[in-house]
Amino acid sequence: ILMLAGTAVAQDYPTRPITMIVPFAAGGPSDAIGRLVAQSMSKSLGQQVVVESVSGAGGTVGASRLARSDADGYTILIHHVALAAGASLYKNLDYDTSTAFAPIGLVNRGPMVLLSRKNYEASDAKALLGIMREQGTKVSVGHAGVGSNSHLCTLLMQEALNSKFTLVAYKGTGPAMNDLMGGQLDILCDQSTTAIPQISGKMIKGYAVTSAERLDALKDLPTLQEAGLKDFNFTIWHGLYAPAKTPEPIVKKLNEALQAALSDQSVLQRFAEVGTSPFPADQRTPAAHKKQFDHEIAVWKDVIGKNKK
Ligand code: MLT
Repeated sequence: ILMLAGTAVAQDYPTRPITMIVPFAAGGPSDAIGRLVAQSMSKSLGQQVVVESVSGAGGTVGASRLARSDADGYTILIHHVALAAGASLYKNLDYDTSTAFAPIGLVNRGPMVLLSRKNYEASDAKALLGIMREQGTKVSVGHAGVGSNSHLCTLLMQEALNSKFTLVAYKGTGPAMNDLMGGQLDILCDQSTTAIPQISGKMIKGYAVTSAERLDALKDLPTLQEAGLKDFNFTIWHGLYAPAKTPEPIVKKLNEALQAALSDQSVLQRFAEVGTSPFPADQRTPAAHKKQFDHEIAVWKDVIGKNKK
């Protein structure tokens, strides 16, 4: 009877609005991607998908909220690299990253961009890297909390330049970007999603992309490799998650709505404008994301373990 009831619930699902937790501050890249996808998913699900920011501690506060939510499909989470990296970076998580979540599907992937406040002295990427190498702690670099993409990017830069900057933590790169535009912060490594609109608006300066290839949407910018950081290659991804025990037919419905969003021309057009890409269809099933997610947890465990030695 319980099983039959579960099937009936899944058949009717959704009968009320769905909350999508964004684990970083409003106005940042996760919020931007989450809102785009949520809006499109609302159309195919016939119910509003409402974005709610639950930020703090590199996205682990929002992840914990999802882990403790009812597994009924009415609370989902958009998260990224930090969900996997957090498993090795945080000692006292109240969830087990490997088992607490049911991956719904991968969303987008793309590079980050090395940025400075508008009036920063460096004229190009090489000059900026020189300053960051030589001036170390005189340079302030913002990030979205331990384990966030901006934080991992900053750590990789410190390692590549053999330097230590003054790190400033925010609840997301949204507020960090505000400080960068206001001139209170020197440097930020942010996702192209939020970097490109501000570079185009001449609110900040963009120097280089973190991926191995240049980005169509930012053709003039070199890669960090071209600027001298041999082997530097960092690409971020977002995925969608439900709590672990969510019935499979509900996860399937959510995945179908995600797939539809990632084939929606208005979403794809915006993705292209801000330099990010949808995952190919065969990589955005729940099973494919689960496999990728387990792999990412292992990769970051390895990277973080090596850096501790
Ligand atoms: C955000 O939305 O603030 C970002 O995704 C944070 C980050 O990981 O740098």
